[in-house]
Amino acid sequence: MERLQAAIEKARAQRNEGGRTEGGRPAPAPRTNGAAALVTDTYADTVSLDANWQSFRQIDTTVPAFRDKKIAAFAGGAEAAAFDMLRTRVIQQARSNNWRRIAVVSPHSSCGKTTTVTNLAFSLGRNSDMRTLAIDFDLRRATLARMLNQKPAHTMADVIEGRVPFADHGLRYGNSVAFGLNAGPVQNSSELLQSNRTAAMLDEIDATYQPDIVLFDMPPLMATDDSLAFLKNVDCALLIVAAEETPMSQIDVAERQIAELTQVMGVVLNKCRLMGSAYGYEYNY
Ligand SMILES: Nc1ncnc2c1ncn2[C@@H]1O[C@H](COP(=O)(O)OP(=O)(O)O)[C@@H](O)[C@H]1O
Ligand SMILES: [Mg+2]
Repeated sequence: MERLQAAIEKARAQRNEGGRTEGGRPAPAPRTNGAAALVTDTYADTVSLDANWQSFRQIDTTVPAFRDKKIAAFAGGAEAAAFDMLRTRVIQQARSNNWRRIAVVSPHSSCGKTTTVTNLAFSLGRNSDMRTLAIDFDLRRATLARMLNQKPAHTMADVIEGRVPFADHGLRYGNSVAFGLNAGPVQNSSELLQSNRTAAMLDEIDATYQPDIVLFDMPPLMATDDSLAFLKNVDCALLIVAAEETPMSQIDVAERQIAELTQVMGVVLNKCRLMGSAYGYEYNY
């Protein structure tokens, strides 16, 4: 317990070292921020970290069920190629900037955030050197559980408010990807997402599971203040826009809103028919 507390305090102190510039925009992350610095320095640490991941229940699913849900990256291969390219760019950006917490946002709904988070998580999960967590913070909709065909008993609000430990709530697929899902919609989601309890819970998850990447599935920026309320807790945001649906003006506003609170990792142009496949993705910087 003392060891966990020390790890949380170390992660928090290093995270705070990043500071903010006068314009409110976050200063570049320090080389060792958050739990990225919590190097497992002994064999015992490594074993206990593995045990922490193993304590999550295994996700209950099948490849055909995931095909129906358009989770192309689940099995790999040609269908997963676009997501694998996105994954590699995300890893490169994350490593070179020392970013780990990535909010996946969009100006309006149905741009493909949940689809992208799910596919990116599985694509990252096929990289056994890394540990990835995907957390559903679109608390008003609880769609990630539906996407994964799961029926969790609790919500991430229950975890944040201490009613259930994350160890009992998280679900893992294999040893390198885990999910934090929601059983249903959550009340007062904006207040919850900006609360100190949420920040503390994320620090504790960082310290306990030491994920390399944490993806947050967020609500649309224009629909609620939930995403804006939460962005202070992440290292960067990935902006998903829908080809032929999202107007340029909305992309501009979204980029400006994100840049006031965190770093813009990039913009994913989703639903792009010109790519010649069902999953046309193009990634811009
Ligand atoms: N690249 C894509 N190609 C085809 N359909 C897509 C693609 N990305 C998302 N969709 C579909 O668009 C709808 C909205 O996607 P979703 O991921 O739920 O969006 P969001 O989470 O941004 O609201 C879903 O029906 C999903 O299957
Ligand atoms: Mg969604």
